[in-house]
Amino acid sequence: MNKTKIWIAGANGQLGTAICDQIDYTKYTLLSTDIDLDITNLEEVTSYINMTHPNVIINCAGMTDLEECEKDMIQAYKVNAIGARNLCAASRSIGAKFVQISTDDVFDGRRQVALNEFDNVFPITIYGKSKLAGENFVRELNPKHLIIRSSWIYGNGENNFVSHILKEAKTKSVIQVPSDQFSTPTSAKELAKFILHLLETNEYGTYHASCEGMCSRYEFAKVILKLAGITDVTVEPVLSASGESVVSRGRYTILDNLMMKLTDSYEMPQWRDALADYINSLNK
Ligand SMILES: NC(=O)c1ccc[n+]([C@@H]2O[C@H](COP(=O)([O-])OP(=O)(O)OC[C@H]3O[C@@H](n4cnc5c(N)ncnc54)[C@H](OP(=O)(O)O)[C@@H]3O)[C@@H](O)[C@H]2O)c1
Repeated sequence: MNKTKIWIAGANGQLGTAICDQIDYTKYTLLSTDIDLDITNLEEVTSYINMTHPNVIINCAGMTDLEECEKDMIQAYKVNAIGARNLCAASRSIGAKFVQISTDDVFDGRRQVALNEFDNVFPITIYGKSKLAGENFVRELNPKHLIIRSSWIYGNGENNFVSHILKEAKTKSVIQVPSDQFSTPTSAKELAKFILHLLETNEYGTYHASCEGMCSRYEFAKVILKLAGITDVTVEPVLSASGESVVSRGRYTILDNLMMKLTDSYEMPQWRDALADYINSLNK
């Protein structure tokens, strides 16, 4: 049996690592690159794809630090928009399927309702705007695409809220966390499982893929400490500072996984169950 060849760009990040861990290697051959293959460089991307001819490209690369994106708009658009354009145009040229990972930050966070794939987008951060520009390139350039939006992803590495809270708890007895920022924590492992499931189907288009349920950052932090068995640290709710950068404002971006329900294709686990599984895996 011929194996499907998958190229994961951004393979060393949280989600890229989780997909590499979850792939069924009896079915797939994996090509993985990260910053060694700069997705903002069209020539590099084109020559790599012409050399390797993958059947599927999954773009997990991104400039994901929201503050950095505000400080360096050019680089944010280069990586999140032009990078997606380069990979997607290259995928089209060889007839490959293209998977783009996107974010709840394409919404403004002002409406206190769960948002589905058919709701209007209106990003307010540079990160969200550059990710939406990436989505739009993908829609324009390759009809064989999946755009998968998720939220508050945690997985391997230090660059996520779970690691941040566990690190803070080592040196502080009180941790202040915003109680007016709402979304859904999503395990990179669970998101990876969904993406790999979608590749087995003939589905195309835009999908929301967060774990089920919702919480504030404050509640998220409390549950992290509880699951980690840390009882001597208090989490204190605070309001996000108003008037500061758009990045740190209070917001409400709950993704409704409506397309999964409409296509009967999948059900994501509850965020607390996925988090418990992740924290248990840290203790092994
Ligand atoms: N993290 C979240 O909460 C979240 C939520 C929703 C959606 N997403 C989206 O999900 C995707 C994966 O997120 P993640 O949390 O796994 O991100 P991540 O851990 O920050 O990984 C992104 C990877 O991309 C690499 N990269 C950056 N610029 C690159 C370039 N020019 N060429 C090639 N590789 C480059 C990074 O390398 P360096 O580390 O060396 O920069 C990093 O290894 C991203 O598209 C992100 O926008 C993330």
